Amino acid sequence: MTQDELKKAAACAALDYIADASIVGVGTGSTVNHFIDALASRRDRILGAVSSSEASTRRLRAHGIEVFDLNGIETLPVYVDGADEIDGHFAMIKGGGGALTREKIVAAVSGRFICICDASKRVDVLGRFPLPVEVIPMACSHVARELRQLGGEPRLRKDFVTDNGNLILDVHGLAITDPADMETRINQIVGVVTNGLFARRGADVLLLAGANGVERLAPRQEAVSAALHATKS
Ligand code: 5RP
Repeated sequence: MTQDELKKAAACAALDYIADASIVGVGTGSTVNHFIDALASRRDRILGAVSSSEASTRRLRAHGIEVFDLNGIETLPVYVDGADEIDGHFAMIKGGGGALTREKIVAAVSGRFICICDASKRVDVLGRFPLPVEVIPMACSHVARELRQLGGEPRLRKDFVTDNGNLILDVHGLAITDPADMETRINQIVGVVTNGLFARRGADVLLLAGANGVERLAPRQEAVSAALHATKS
């Protein structure tokens, strides 16, 4: 199977998690495009969607799926999105498509994050894929200096403006041994809108498509235990 066929297989498997009469959180990217196309077959059984990008909104509407404003909604049962990398604890790097901020917002109000990926996205340690950081334009040089202090090599994404009117710095060469700590440290830099590490709110289910079909995986339990321990102490 090609990589695109694997993406489609993972995307179609996500339909099993969509309840009738629900509003679905929808991510962004080529894998999610397959999901949106598959969701069209359920158009009359769902209420609609909340979208994480202008591109996904256009595709949803083209299929006749209603797109709701997140501000009118308290919770979403399920959010379906892809990833650029995902580790064993289901922390992710996202934002290859530049939609990381809206993706993180929709994920934050969702009960379950269903991550849909082809097998190439599964890694042991995050960081080979350059980490996207959305930046307020006037802060770009300042943020780049701070990211260098953290050991990364930021590169401005060329000819790209986010749906929020901001810029993206893609940070190469970061050693992301503690994704949750790195996520917080980068978000504390003044001028950063958010970064593409989804560790504090990682995925709950991974649908990973490989040569032998789609695996339905849960995060490694030791990560959950460690997080609970840290909260108590
Ligand atoms: C977009 C994203 C995507 O989920 C990520 O880039 C994966 O994309 P694709 O499904 O095209 O491989 O985070 O901002």
